[in-house]
Amino acid sequence: MARQKIVVFEGDGIGPEIMAAGLDVLAAVTQGTDFTYETEFLPFGGQAIDQVGEPLPNNTINQAKRADAILLSAIGGPKWNACPKRPEDGLLALRSELGLFANVRPTVVADSQIDQSPLKTEIVRGTDFVIVRELTSGAYFGEPRSKTFDQAIDTMYYSRSEIERIMVYGFDLAQSRRQHVTVVDKSNVLATSKLWREVGQAVAQRYPEVMVDYRYVDATAMAIVADPTQFDVLITPNLFGDILSDEAAQITGTIGQIPSLSAGATGPKMYEPIHGSAPDIAGQGIANPISMIKTVSLMLSQSFHQEKLAKQIDEAVELTIRRGQVTPDMGGTLTTKEVTEQVMNAMQEGVFS
Ligand code: NAD
Ligand code: IPM
Ligand code: MN
Repeated sequence: MARQKIVVFEGDGIGPEIMAAGLDVLAAVTQGTDFTYETEFLPFGGQAIDQVGEPLPNNTINQAKRADAILLSAIGGPKWNACPKRPEDGLLALRSELGLFANVRPTVVADSQIDQSPLKTEIVRGTDFVIVRELTSGAYFGEPRSKTFDQAIDTMYYSRSEIERIMVYGFDLAQSRRQHVTVVDKSNVLATSKLWREVGQAVAQRYPEVMVDYRYVDATAMAIVADPTQFDVLITPNLFGDILSDEAAQITGTIGQIPSLSAGATGPKMYEPIHGSAPDIAGQGIANPISMIKTVSLMLSQSFHQEKLAKQIDEAVELTIRRGQVTPDMGGTLTTKEVTEQVMNAMQEGVFS
C-alpha cells in the first residue's frame, strides 16, 4: 500500500492533548506493519485565527482536499467567540468545501460500561445505534441568514437531492447492520421536514428488507433515554442530529468517548470526536483521549481498510475501560497520558492478535 497522507488539525482547548494521544496510538499500532503514512499538521480553527487571522486558510483547505484522510480533534473556545469569523465558521466551511454531507455518530453501550450510564441497566443494556446526521445543509447553511440588533434570520433549507443522498447513505448503512431505519423529522410543523419524510418514504421503497419507522424529533429525544435499544440507524437533518448526538453520547456515560466519520460522494473522509474543545478542562491533562483514539480506529477501518489494526485499538480501549484505567469523566483518576499509555500497553500485551 502506498504511503498515506493524513492531514491533522490539532484544534483548540483539549484538541492538542487528545490529538497527541490519538497519534501515539496510531504510531504504535502501525509500527512494523505494511501500513505507512505521513502526517501533515495544518493551522485550522482558533489556532489558525491566531496565526493568520482566518479559521480556514486557503492552504489548509487545499491540502485537506489532497489528503487520504483528515483527522480533527475539536475547535473553538471563548477566546474567539467575538471574532468576525469564528473557529466554528471554519469547521462549517471545511465540511461544506469537502462536501462531507454524511456524518455518522455511533452510540454503543458495552456491557462493561453499563454502570457508567446514567440510565437504568435494564433500559440501556444492548444499546447500539448510529445517528446519520446530514452535515452540509439545513439550518446551518440555508440563506438568507442575518443578524441585526433587532432581529435575526436563519433559513432551514433542504433540496430533494440533498435529502435523497443522505437517506440512501443511511439505508445502505442499515443494510450492513440490523436493517432498521428511523427517519427523524418535525414534519408536523416544518416544510423541510415534510419533504424529509416524503423523500424518506420514497427511498424506503427501494429497500424492502429494511424496516422503517418515522418519528418526530421531540419524541425521538425522549425515546433515546426511555428505550434506546429500539434504534439501529437514525437519519436526521443537520440541527436535530447535532442535538440528538450529544444526548445519545451521554447515555454511554461520557461524550469523551464518541468518535465520528464524515463522508462525501468522493474525496477524503474526515474523522473527529463529536465533542468540542472542552475549555472547562483544557490544559489540565485530564481530557478523555478515548474519543480521539476511537476516531483513529474508525479512520483505519473506514478509509484504509485496516480492520485488524482498528480491532486491536478497539479491544485495547475496551480492556482499559474494563480495568477502570480511565479519566475522571468515566469515574477514574488517570490523566490523558496515563490512559493513552494503558491503551498502548494493552495493545502490546498482544492478547488480541
Ligand atoms: P464540549 O463538548 O466541548 O464540552 C461539553 C462538556 O463535555 C464539558 O463539560 C467538557 O469538559 C466535556 N467533555 C468534552 N469532551 C471531553 C473529553 N474528551 N474528556 C472529558 N470531558 C469532555 O461542548 P461546549 O463546552 O459546548 O463547547 C466548547 C467549544 O467547542 C465551543 O466553542 C463549541 O463551539 C466547540 N465545539 C467544537 C466541536 C468540533 O470541533 N467538532 C464540537 C462541539 C463543540
Ligand atoms: C459538532 C459541533 C459543531 C456543529 C459546531 C462546533 C459547529 O457542535 O460537530 O457537533 O454544530 O456541527
Ligand atoms: Mn455538536
